[in-house]
Amino acid sequence: MKILVVGGAGYIGSHMVKFLMQQACNITVLDNLSTGHADAVPAALLHKGDLADVDSLDALFTQHQFDAVMHFASFSLVGESITDPARYYRNNVSNTQNLLDTMINHGVYQFIFSSSAAIFGEPEYLPIDEEHPKNPLNPYGRSKWMVEQMLEDYDRAYGLKSISLRYFNAAGADSDGSLGERHNPETHLIPLLLQVAAGQRDNVTIFGHDYQTVDGTCIRDYIHVHDLCVAHWRALNFLQMHKQSEQFNLGNGSGFSVQQVVDACRTISGIEISTTYGNKRVGDPISLIADSKKAKRLLTWQPKYTSLHEIIAHAWCWHQQQLEHK
Ligand code: UFG
Repeated sequence: MKILVVGGAGYIGSHMVKFLMQQACNITVLDNLSTGHADAVPAALLHKGDLADVDSLDALFTQHQFDAVMHFASFSLVGESITDPARYYRNNVSNTQNLLDTMINHGVYQFIFSSSAAIFGEPEYLPIDEEHPKNPLNPYGRSKWMVEQMLEDYDRAYGLKSISLRYFNAAGADSDGSLGERHNPETHLIPLLLQVAAGQRDNVTIFGHDYQTVDGTCIRDYIHVHDLCVAHWRALNFLQMHKQSEQFNLGNGSGFSVQQVVDACRTISGIEISTTYGNKRVGDPISLIADSKKAKRLLTWQPKYTSLHEIIAHAWCWHQQQLEHK
């Protein structure tokens, strides 16, 4: 199988590249390295390029006969998407359309798309299944939902078959500690807490503590990056076998509050991570928990890492290795 992994030098993409190599796939990584890291993928696989550059994209598809495309490249900072929506619609929507059009021009009809729980907005019920109404609260979520709708139209008109995987909160790191979550700036809860534990940051602000939840802080469903990779692999197999477009919600099905995540990070690192209470973050839903029954049924997918402690332990292992290499 010859697979193009767009955004393969990023957090989830680089784990996917490693996973696909273990499945003996023939891989090309396309990444503009705006947020990804060249050292996260083997140099021989990396093609530095941008989806905005349609001529180069066309040349890449002429050079390689890809069987399928996995698309991880998008901007994903909710706050930034509110202050600079143009950047999000350009990169996440227009550039994705360039990719889809190039695929069709070259007869490549299998596409796996990284979507997000952000398409749902404030939940009307929990856990959130695939049919839950889509009311994204911010341009980031809207950009993902727009692409999902575009994919529906492209299937109907051009026969492009796609699977949209709606991640809840991706977390954790490769179990051997060789890959992990590295954003700059970092905005995600678990890496921020572990940066404090590692002495790289003084404090983490907890955004809001008067929500209607167990302890007043937001609830999220954390899913290990390895389990997301397995879901992508199963999704690709499903596409090949059934030639049918689908959407799947991917989470563990259990919610943890921000305070519970803080406590787990303290226990695992053995360090009293300093936190303070701050204002609620604009666009933050109170609670997001996935109903992943459809993925379990149709993809025979079962998350391996269902314990929050194990997910955080892998992330902590990676943070410690980073410190050793400094
Ligand atoms: N949080 C804090 N302090 C921080 C950072 C986060 O309290 O400094 C809280 C947030 O308010 C939220 C929780 O920790 O309640 C998790 O926040 P993250 O920023 O780690 O993740 P989000 O839930 O905001 O977003 C993630 C992905 C999005 C995706 C969303 C869907 O980053 O791309 O999950 O569930 F859309």
